[in-house]
This record gives sequence, structure tokens and C-alpha cells, in this order.
Amino acid sequence: MSLKKAYEAYFKMGTSVSERNLSTEEAKRELVLHYNSITAENGMKPMFCLDWKANTENPEKYNSEPALSFESARKYLDFAKETGISLRGHTLVWHNQTPAWFFKKDYSREENAPLADREVMLARLEAYIKGVLGFVQTEYPGVIYAWDVVNEAIEETEENGWRKSLWYQTVGDDFVLQAFRFARKYAAEDVKLFYNDYCTFVPKKREKITELILKPLLKEGVIDGMGMQTHLILKHNELSEYETSLNTFGALGLEIHVTELDIHNADPSEEGEMALALMYEQLFGLYVKVKEEKTANLTSVTFWGMKDDESWLTGFRKEQSYPLLFGENYALKRAYEAVIAVPSKN
Ligand code: XIL
Repeated sequence: MSLKKAYEAYFKMGTSVSERNLSTEEAKRELVLHYNSITAENGMKPMFCLDWKANTENPEKYNSEPALSFESARKYLDFAKETGISLRGHTLVWHNQTPAWFFKKDYSREENAPLADREVMLARLEAYIKGVLGFVQTEYPGVIYAWDVVNEAIEETEENGWRKSLWYQTVGDDFVLQAFRFARKYAAEDVKLFYNDYCTFVPKKREKITELILKPLLKEGVIDGMGMQTHLILKHNELSEYETSLNTFGALGLEIHVTELDIHNADPSEEGEMALALMYEQLFGLYVKVKEEKTANLTSVTFWGMKDDESWLTGFRKEQSYPLLFGENYALKRAYEAVIAVPSKN
């Protein structure tokens, strides 16, 4: 049995991968066995696709057309191509892991340098999207099936709902729309365009995402899907708002991807592992249910990390986390057994 086999009638099964995973035989075996989708955990983000040296040393030349670097991206694309595993592109436009100089006049690395103006940033945005999509589609046609075009633009605690990121500050509140227009313009026809965010089950955030992003983009016909990151916490194991979000986004006619699934769990005891297994069972029960009842077109579910000891959560939550289906050396956890068993119960 494997994850992708167990769920083949429902949706793709994926995981994020690090550069280290791609150079470890054991990890590669696990990838081929369990998954039919992968996402680069970091290596295709703007900080990796932008050529730091060229841009900052020669700002005049690259002012409106940033120099790009695909050394990192190629590793993921090569692996996906060799193995026939599909790749989710993550991510084109994000406030994090994009160098601050990218938003500055003349790509300045001085902390207090002025920001570039709207016109320049729109040109950089278009050139970046055109360049990345062009490279991937020319050299690796068909490998990437979906892109997180914009990541995390909504902050529900802000009065107008928009995160005051450097994209927002330089371009304005239409930066998401502009990004999707450019992505639609340069993406191959069969490449699906996603908006991706975390805490999409928080009612106020769900509402802001729907009103400020999804509806306007649907109206223009430039978005295909909603990415629900799904970084959950075992202590908050109530899934009803999560279910409402799946159904709300589903009802808009969007494809849904669960893009970054993990459940923070600081308790590795038998009790903790059982509780984790139960929550995963409920979650995958929900995924199967929305598919069977056709209330949400969920087509891909991606875990954020291959095994507990590599999870980003231990750093992020500042305590050891055991959030995934696999433990050290890819030992199958109770959560794995629970997830694998869900489809046969339906
Ligand atoms: C995280 C990675 O897992 C870490 O290795 C990195 O240090 C920071 O980014 N939302 C996202 C992901 O969209 O890209 C983030 O990944 C986790 C939160």
C-alpha cells in the first residue's frame, strides 16, 4: 500500500521536498512510492529564482527586467521530470522569502533606501512571472501542473483586509489582480493558477479571501483554484469551520488544493500519537466526503514535510513537533495507518 494508491480515486497525494531529500536515496525511494505530486519546500521561491549578484551589481541593466537564476529550481524540475511526479509551483508572489532589495529603487541593499515606484514594480512583476513561467514551460513542459501565483496576501486583522506587505506598499491593492493577469497571460493553458493562504478556516479570513480575492479574480477569469495551506494544531481539533471553508471555496466553482498539511503535535507519547491519528482520520474523512458528495472539487493534498524530524514546525513553534505521518527513518506512525485506512471505510 502507499498513500498515492490509497487515494488514487480521489486526489493527488503530495509532499514538500527539500534539497537534501533530493540527494538522499532513501528519500527518493519514499517519494516515488507514496506521492504523485511534490512541492519545493523553499527552492523555487523568489529568493532562489532571483539572481542576487546580477541585479544588485547591475541595477540599471535589470531595473525593470530582473535577472533570474534557475540553478535551484532545476533540481526539483529534473527530479519531477525523471520520475514522472507532477510538481506544484510554489510560489511567484509572496512577502516572505523575497529579498527586500527587489522592492527598492535601484535594487538597493541599504536598509533605508526608498521603495521602487508602482510602474517599476509592475514591470518587475510581469518580467518575473514571464521569465519563470517561460523557463519552466520551455525546458520542462508539462511538469508543473499548478502554481501558487500569490501567497498570503490577506491579513484579517487589518481594517481593509490586506496585509501591508511590500507588494501592497509598492503596487497597491490591485497587486494580486495584476499578478494573476500576468500569470494567465504567460502560463500554458493546462497550468492551473492558485491563490494560497493559511488559516483559511478562520471565518473573517475566509470572508476577506472570498470577497477581496476569489470573486474579483473569478469575474476576470484568471484564477482556477484555492490553496488551503492547512497548518493545523492538534490542540485545536475542531474541524467544522475548516469544513465550511472547503465547501465555501468549493461552491465558487474553484478547484481546491490542500497545499501544506501538517498538524502541530508536541506530544510523542502513545496518547499523543493516537490523538494525532484520530485528527488525521477525521480530516481525510472530510476530504473523501466532499469528493463523494461533490461539494468541493479537491484534487490534490500535499503534506508539508516528509517526516517529523525534518518538519519546519519545530523551528516555527519553538518546540519539538511530531506533526506528520512518518517518523525518523520513515517509520510509519499511527497517523499513517489511520490515513491509509480511510478510503476503504467508504
Ligand atoms: C516554510 C519552509 O517550510 C521553511 O523551511 C522556511 O524556512 C520558511 O517557509 N507558508 C508557506 C510555506 O507558504 O512556503 C512556508 O514554508 C510555510 C508557511
